[in-house]
Amino acid sequence: MRLTVIGTGYVGLVSGTCFAEMGNTVTCVDVDKDKIEKLKKGVIPIYEPGLEPMVQRNIENKTLSFTTDLSEALHKANIAFIAVGTPMGQDGSADLKYVLGVAREIGQHMQRPLIVVDKSTVPVGTADKVRVEIEKVLKERAVSLEFHVVSNPEFLKEGDAINDFMKPDRVVVGSDDEQTTATMRSLYAPFFRSSMDRLITMDVRSAEMTKYVANAMLATKISFMNEVANICELVGADVNKVRIGIGSDSRIGYSFIYPGSGYGGSCFPKDVKALHRTAAEHGYQADLIGAVEAVNDRQKLVVAKKVVRRFGEDLSGRTFAVWGLAFKPQTDDMREAPAIYIIRELVQRGAKIQAYDPKAMDEARHYYLKDLIGVTYCNSKYEALMNADAMILLTEWKEFRSPDFEELRAQLKQPVIFDGRNQYNDQVLKKMGFEYFQIGKN
Ligand code: UDX
Repeated sequence: MRLTVIGTGYVGLVSGTCFAEMGNTVTCVDVDKDKIEKLKKGVIPIYEPGLEPMVQRNIENKTLSFTTDLSEALHKANIAFIAVGTPMGQDGSADLKYVLGVAREIGQHMQRPLIVVDKSTVPVGTADKVRVEIEKVLKERAVSLEFHVVSNPEFLKEGDAINDFMKPDRVVVGSDDEQTTATMRSLYAPFFRSSMDRLITMDVRSAEMTKYVANAMLATKISFMNEVANICELVGADVNKVRIGIGSDSRIGYSFIYPGSGYGGSCFPKDVKALHRTAAEHGYQADLIGAVEAVNDRQKLVVAKKVVRRFGEDLSGRTFAVWGLAFKPQTDDMREAPAIYIIRELVQRGAKIQAYDPKAMDEARHYYLKDLIGVTYCNSKYEALMNADAMILLTEWKEFRSPDFEELRAQLKQPVIFDGRNQYNDQVLKKMGFEYFQIGKN
C-alpha cells in the first residue's frame, strides 16, 4: 500500500519505517526542514535501538522517503497517518492544535479518496473533530471526496519500539466503516503471522479510549506498588519479597509492579492527566486516576528524601554521583524523568552532582538541566564516583546492573549507595560494608 505518515517523532518515524519494512511504500512528512534533510540521509534524531539501520535500508530500497511537502506525499497515498505531537495544555488536557492543523492541511491537499488514521494519542472525540475539519476545508474547495477517519492508537515502548511494532501484542483499529476496517486489517495482516485474533477492531471512540485506559492502568500498577513500597518501609517489610509474593497470582502477574522512583516518559504522565481531565470535563471526578498522578509526583522525590535523611537538610559541600538520567534504560529520553526532580532538589540544597548516563547526557546538558550550576557530566560511571559522598542510581541501564563494587568503594569517599531502582542484592552489599538504601525496604 502507499502510505503517508505525518509527523516524524517517535511514533511517526517508527511506524513509517516499520510499514516500509513490510513492503509498503511510505512517505514521511514533517515541517522541520533540518530534521527531514537529516532523515533523507538516514540520520535519525533520537536514540532507538535498531531504528537507524532500518531507516537506511528502506531508503536504499526506495520503500521509505522523507519530505516537507504534504501535498506531494498525499498525491500518491491511500492512507494518511497523523502522528504529530499532542502536548499537554496548561490545564492538563491534550492540546490538539497540531492534529487539527494537519487535518486542515489534508483537506486542502487531498486529491483522491483517503483513509485518515489518528495514530497520535488523542482524547475521545478527536476523530470526529478531524472529520469535521477535513469536511469544512473540502467544502471551501467545493470538492467532494470520500474519506474515513480511523483511530489506531500506538502502544510502542521507547527502547523496544521496533520489536513492539513488528511483533505487536495487539493492534487496535477503531472505525465506523466496514470497508475501511477491512483495508486496515490487510495493512496489518503481515504483522500477525499465526493468528489475526490480536487485531482488535471496534468503534472509533472505544479505540481512542483504549489507549488512555491502557496507559492509566499501567501507571496505576506502578503508583500502587510505589505506595506499597512506602508502607513496607514503615512496617518493616521488604517490597521485593511482597512483589514476588503477589506477582505469583496469575490474576496479578509480575509485570509492571516494580517499585522505583516513579514513572516518567512522554506517555504515562501526559495520558493520566488527560484522562483525569476528560472525566472532569464530563462532570466526573476520577479520584483514583488523580491519585495515581499525585502518588507519582511524590515518589519522584523519595530518593532525595532518603539522601537528606542520611546527610542532613544542608547538602553544601557534598557531592553525589548520579548513575542514569533517562526516564528508563535504552533511550535518551528525559521527559518527566525522576532524575530531573531529584537532581534539582539536591542542587537546591547545595550539593554538587557528577552525572553519567550512557545516552541521555546531551539531553540533560542542553535542555533538562541546562540552567543548573553544579552538575558535571562524566565520561564513565566510575569517573562519576570520584570523591563523591554517595552513588545514586536512577536508571537501570544494563551497564549498572553488575558493577565492580570494589572499584565503587575505592572511588567513593564513603561506601553509600541510594538505589532508586532496587537493582542490587542488599545482603551482599551490606556484607561488603556498604550502606545501601533501596525503595520499599529498610
Ligand atoms: C509506555 C507504554 O508502555 C506504551 O505502551 C505506550 O505506548 C507509551 O507509554 P514508555 O513510556 O516507552 O511506554 O515506557 P515504559 O517502558 O512503559 O515505562 C514507563 C515508566 O514506568 C518508566 O519510567 C519506568 O521506569 C516505569 N516503570 C515501569 C516502573 O516504575 N515500574 C514498572 O514496573 C514498570
